[in-house]
Amino acid sequence: MMRRRQFLGLAAALPVITTFGGWSLFNHAVSAPRFDNALFLPGADGPFAVLAPNAPFTLVAEQGWLPAPGREETPFLWYRTQMNGHEYQNPILLLRTGDELDVTLDNQLDEGTIIHWHGLHVPGRVDGHPMQTVDPGEQYEYRFKVTNRGGTYWYHTHAHHRTARQAHQGLASFLLVSDDDNEALNEALGLELGKTDLPLVLQDKRFDRLGHLVYQPNPMQRMMGYLGDAVLVNMTPAATHEVERRIHRLRLLNGSTARIYRLALRAEGQAIPFRVIGTDAGLLDSPREAHEAFLSPGERLEVLVDFAAFAGGDRVELHSLEFDPMAGGGMGGGMGRMMGGGMHDGDPLALLEFVVQEGEAVTAEVPERLSRIEPIDVTDAGQRDIRLDMAPMQWRINGETYDPDRVPIEVDANTREVWTIRNADRSMPHPMHIHGFSFQVLSRSGGPDFVRQQAVNDEGLAVTDLGWKDTVLLWPGETVRIALDFTHHYAGDQLYVFHCHNLEHEDNDMMVNVRVRA
Ligand code: C2O
Ligand code: CU
Ligand code: CU
Repeated sequence: MMRRRQFLGLAAALPVITTFGGWSLFNHAVSAPRFDNALFLPGADGPFAVLAPNAPFTLVAEQGWLPAPGREETPFLWYRTQMNGHEYQNPILLLRTGDELDVTLDNQLDEGTIIHWHGLHVPGRVDGHPMQTVDPGEQYEYRFKVTNRGGTYWYHTHAHHRTARQAHQGLASFLLVSDDDNEALNEALGLELGKTDLPLVLQDKRFDRLGHLVYQPNPMQRMMGYLGDAVLVNMTPAATHEVERRIHRLRLLNGSTARIYRLALRAEGQAIPFRVIGTDAGLLDSPREAHEAFLSPGERLEVLVDFAAFAGGDRVELHSLEFDPMAGGGMGGGMGRMMGGGMHDGDPLALLEFVVQEGEAVTAEVPERLSRIEPIDVTDAGQRDIRLDMAPMQWRINGETYDPDRVPIEVDANTREVWTIRNADRSMPHPMHIHGFSFQVLSRSGGPDFVRQQAVNDEGLAVTDLGWKDTVLLWPGETVRIALDFTHHYAGDQLYVFHCHNLEHEDNDMMVNVRVRA
């Protein structure tokens, strides 16, 4: 049964936001937070339930209805499927390295759409390139082997010029890949998916007076990004969740179209450290303690939080700390503040509260070695410069905006490259993402002070830059170097894209084709 009533939570919070405006509410929320709604977690079926497919299946992209706070329902776009007598909407797909995925997209929307498997190493034909967008009533078949290492991946719409709205209206979910390292970790810590191993997607949304999701960016928001005035975790505003006194694994995904989070844990106003164990494409080699981390759209961060250190009744809150997204840039700050109508990127937010249950603490030793990460050998790597800048009302990659007939980046299969990506001073943050291949971040420099202060090594890397990545954030004025390995075993040329994962930027053509030549 779909737990419809609880799904969006019958929140007091949302009507308050729409009545009084988000700014004051959320400022208030950080100093005296109120978490009224049970965090939505996957059930046995229904929305966002975990589905480990053991047969070919069809994902029907369609418009459904979910209950919305304060009103009956909101129109919501989802991928619906059935398996073994259960019905799922936006299932959390659970696969193991080596599994075959055999899935058909059935487009029952009244506009084009396509599914992209974010982070997966797959042939171009089944990547969900925006040019593969299928018309209403049409289908698209995907069949591929999951070769990625274990990790927290996701899938979402990549409809050409419609990605942001379709994703905002619902078309996105997790794709979790498990492997030996992941299983060893969960076993060592006694973690259980959906219980102590929690997929958490952070998304900001806007709702109208009826409680319906609204996606209506004005020209400024199309250029800067569309920010919601309600920040939801697993579609729950002001979420609260009871936890046992033991280690929990949080798989955080920034599924927002444009908002960046500066994540931190607070208990009684005190900073609580956490252990970062994984990034976009799986586990790090060993855990790293951190007090905060930026997470930009498309990125994932896996952390361990030890609730055994707390007493029953204690509250631990997940916050996004204040920051200035334009710091370091020359856009004069005012730009960010002109977005209007609601909150700004970088405003402080209280996202989620954990309430520690009474009972005996369960302690466990976190393994020192989580996985093995071989650095990409860049001795003979080709070098490529990528420049991010702005033309009037449009962001560009090497002076270009998306042209389906142009392929500005061509690389040879089975070669390695180092990309030096520079974000202009007069700019804003851009989370840059490539399809088909994971990469490693080599260095980060030239960013604002609050970014440089968080460097975890001499190369200036942030904790979110460690391990295998597919999305990397560039602050104004920054230079980030990444190493890519274009090894693959597919026949013929493969076409992918490299784009900004601020989805308004992507839809506004901050994207280029990438061809990997056979
Ligand atoms: Cu998350 Cu091109 O995508
Ligand atoms: Cu992707
Ligand atoms: Cu961008």
